[in-house]
Amino acid sequence: MAPHDQTRKAASRESGKAASADSSKAASGDGDRAAPGIAPRLLAWYDAHHRDLPWRVPPKALAGGARPDPYRVWLSEVMLQQTTVEAVKAYFRVFLEKWPDVGALAAAPAEDLMKAWAGLGYYSRARNLKACADLVARLGGRFPDTAAGLRELPGIGAYTAAAIAAIAFDRPAVVVDGNVERVVSRLFSIATPLNEAKGEIRALVEKMVPGKRPGDFAQAMMDLGATICTPRRPRCMLCPLREDCSAILSGDPERFPVRLPKADKPLRRGAAFVAVRGDGAILLRKRAEKGLLGGMTEVPTTAWTARIDGASTEAGAPFAAACLRAGRSAHCFPHIAIEHDVYHPPINGHIPLVSLRS
Ligand code: ADE
Repeated sequence: MAPHDQTRKAASRESGKAASADSSKAASGDGDRAAPGIAPRLLAWYDAHHRDLPWRVPPKALAGGARPDPYRVWLSEVMLQQTTVEAVKAYFRVFLEKWPDVGALAAAPAEDLMKAWAGLGYYSRARNLKACADLVARLGGRFPDTAAGLRELPGIGAYTAAAIAAIAFDRPAVVVDGNVERVVSRLFSIATPLNEAKGEIRALVEKMVPGKRPGDFAQAMMDLGATICTPRRPRCMLCPLREDCSAILSGDPERFPVRLPKADKPLRRGAAFVAVRGDGAILLRKRAEKGLLGGMTEVPTTAWTARIDGASTEAGAPFAAACLRAGRSAHCFPHIAIEHDVYHPPINGHIPLVSLRS
């Protein structure tokens, strides 16, 4: 029922339409106006220390003439929108095996795609993935090669359009995810709280993007943030930009980015009913297409929403059998936390169904 636990904060990555004009704007390409030498130092480090990722064409292969497959780049970027690299790897491999190109994905039944996505979370991404594949297949199987063109496709926000344009087509797009925000906040010891500093950070990245290898530059920033300039205990001694970094001089690089204290999430409650038949079959239902976890399979729950609690007692069961309380499950979405009291009827008991929709 719950999406994959290894989800990560979207931070500002797809931060709405306001960002879209910016992200489709290509950087000027001198790469030297924010801090001289940053891009060359970062690219040299990336050449030696880049992560091997299944969707990535490594720098040596690029130099030898290999080109990224826009389908693989798009698929990986959509999967990575709210999920960690480690969690995405296995799903990416399965998707590529089942659907090696955009035409194959467009031809697949939506149900199969949703099943293969199960566990990755944020299921509207999977529905948009299908809609996007259908559209690109109708356009002849070629993805647009600019951030502005990509932004027109379903499920592709400002961040994803910029990332695909840079990585798949080597466009000098401004690619700013949470990792990049952290790196830049530290490089320039930005004291403004992150939610107010996003414009400033974008402007600084725009000035850093090099004219040559902008796609590798984007990926190098991501890798630096993921492996060296980490949220806790950054490995500054190994950082190729340590001489450029003003947060190191402050003696406390972890202080950046500066964040305002978080407001508590609202806690919603409900009840979930796990009915297991004698032969091991579990009673499941499909959620309504729209809304939280839309279209996903789940054990029946009472009718909670992001704003309203559902019943927490066994009285809300969708069947007439007596239930035992088995415990409580907890899950966090970005905007709410939900706790379910979990009930189950005796395993070999007969379960007369009353309704499968809550
Ligand atoms: N996060 C988002 N896109 C990524 C990519 N292409 N490589 C690594 N991490 C990422």
